[in-house]
Amino acid sequence: MITMSDSKKLIYAGKAKDVYESKKEDEVIVSFRDDITAGDGEKKDNLQGKGHCNSLISSKLFEILEKNGIDTQYIKLISSGFMLSKKLDMIPLEVIARNIATGSLLKRFPFKESQKLNPPIIQMDYKNDEYHDPMLNDEITIALGIATQEELDEIRAITLKINKILSEFLKEKGILLVDFKLEFGKDKEGKIVLGDEISPDTCRYWDINTLEILDKDSFRQGQDNVMDIYEQLCGMIVEEKDIKNWGI
Ligand SMILES: Nc1ncnc2c1ncn2[C@@H]1O[C@H](COP(=O)(O)OP(=O)(O)OP(=O)(O)O)[C@@H](O)[C@H]1O
Ligand SMILES: [Mg+2]
Repeated sequence: MITMSDSKKLIYAGKAKDVYESKKEDEVIVSFRDDITAGDGEKKDNLQGKGHCNSLISSKLFEILEKNGIDTQYIKLISSGFMLSKKLDMIPLEVIARNIATGSLLKRFPFKESQKLNPPIIQMDYKNDEYHDPMLNDEITIALGIATQEELDEIRAITLKINKILSEFLKEKGILLVDFKLEFGKDKEGKIVLGDEISPDTCRYWDINTLEILDKDSFRQGQDNVMDIYEQLCGMIVEEKDIKNWGI
């Protein structure tokens, strides 16, 4: 296992990932750590193997999106846990797509638990810990200088396309894509590109038959088998040969 900290400069240490500089100026290495947090960072733990699982799941889903014409940060997995990615100038938005009403949406609005949302809801939150990631509307986003109307329209259109591609792919694997959070950034040409991760930390996945939780809600709820659940999900999404290759 390589440890990036010895050779590469750390650009940013987040709650669950680190971003290191790479050999090329326009590329970074995203390192998926085993740390897990919930509730605005209040609940914390370290789950051995989580970073490996999340890097494999994210890589697989980025590959599927690339094959379907979505621009993503993904270049390749260098080793389990370390993803070579395009360096992006991140837009401080958490772009959330919801197919089923659950979680924080129910605390804020009178939706029914597990109510189908068709068409899906796209919600944008301001990615800002100091302000606790408040929900935005377009006018506030534009007034803050976060994005233009054209950029917001483009981000919405890409997110809906991603929702379709991933929902179909995951359905074949026996997984219901309930909701997910994306982050976008701009590449050196100013093009909007999907960054960050698509993992059980940032999405809700339910077993399509049993509706069993296969994501970070297991941690939020205090279950003691969170890592088993992450490994189960990884086995459903990533081919066995790839899991073996990357040494989980
Ligand atoms: N391709 C990329 N280029 C540059 N920065 C990126 C790229 N992809 C993701 N990032 C940024 O790297 C950081 C990843 O950190 P991480 O997800 O662990 O924590 P966080 O975003 O600070 O906190 P949290 O997501 O838990 O609120 C984020 O700030 C994210 O916006
Ligand atoms: Mg993050």
